[in-house]
Amino acid sequence: KYLKDDEVSQECMSLLSTLPSESGWLSKKLYKYQGFWHNARQLQGVISCQKYFQPQDTDILLVTTPKSGTTWLKAILFSLVNRTHFKPTKGDHPLLTNNPHTLVPFLELKLYIDGQTPDLSSFASPRLFSTHLPYVSLPKSIQDSKCKLVYLCRNPKDIFISLWAFTNKLRLQEMGTNSIEQVFEKFCEGVSLYGPFWDHMLSYWNESLKNPDKIYFLTYEEMKEQPNLHLRKLADFLGCPFSTKEVEEGMVDDMLDICSFDNMSNLKVNKEGKLPSGESNNAFFRNGKVGDWKNYLTMEMVERLEKICEEKLVGSGLKF
Ligand code: A3P
Repeated sequence: KYLKDDEVSQECMSLLSTLPSESGWLSKKLYKYQGFWHNARQLQGVISCQKYFQPQDTDILLVTTPKSGTTWLKAILFSLVNRTHFKPTKGDHPLLTNNPHTLVPFLELKLYIDGQTPDLSSFASPRLFSTHLPYVSLPKSIQDSKCKLVYLCRNPKDIFISLWAFTNKLRLQEMGTNSIEQVFEKFCEGVSLYGPFWDHMLSYWNESLKNPDKIYFLTYEEMKEQPNLHLRKLADFLGCPFSTKEVEEGMVDDMLDICSFDNMSNLKVNKEGKLPSGESNNAFFRNGKVGDWKNYLTMEMVERLEKICEEKLVGSGLKF
């Protein structure tokens, strides 16, 4: 189902025919909408979500560039905001039997996919949602509301390798695999899901500087290096700080343990389960390391990507 990217409404078809398009990594085509690349089905979800999503001030929205650790942060945010109901050390924790994408749904890729208008009345407050939408395409209602955004991105060299591996895993066998060279070119040109990655990152970076109480900007590398510190800062930012008692009892580390790559990737649900949209849960767990690009990229590729990052991010204060 994931791959039937051209099954869209007549209205969406008319829009697509006006947009620039390129061949995709997974889907047949990517379309450029509001400056960023989407596949057709997803674009229908974007438009529906822009029209109909009504945020509540207490909502928490996780925004990420694809392959930046979305699955990990979904797990962390879920366990953080639900910690009074579900202690991370308890055997009945929902993360032990559910993939994080089930617990924290994507707006445009799940709830509003195919132009649906979901009934969100069963979501308890604070509602937790996620999106890959660039800032310019966020529903205006989100930009205007008091809801909080956690933004996560990652070193583009690792994003690229993770995305290359992920899309090859999800491609139908008869489509064959994409060579690293084929998709590297596209990535550098900004033609990847929700790309250009630099514009995605920069817009949230700049917004987070303007409005640090609304957007918490975080990288995968920072989270890997100082998980305890960032989890406590996230709790402060979201208005649910850890109490001294919780810290003394080891709650922060317990939460990081249940959400760790080793724990999550070895759970039955993540080894054998599938999402309703068809992706195997294990596709979201590869090796979870910083710097794996060193095993794949040539010197020329590294230089090219680093040059792009330098040129695009110059003067912003954001560096990889
Ligand atoms: P790698 O492909 O480099 O291993 P996303 O969730 O945004 O799709 O990102 C997927 C990346 O996050 C993959 O990176 C995956 O292995 C890594 N990942 C998934 N769960 C993780 C966890 N609990 N801790 C750290 N990294 C994790």
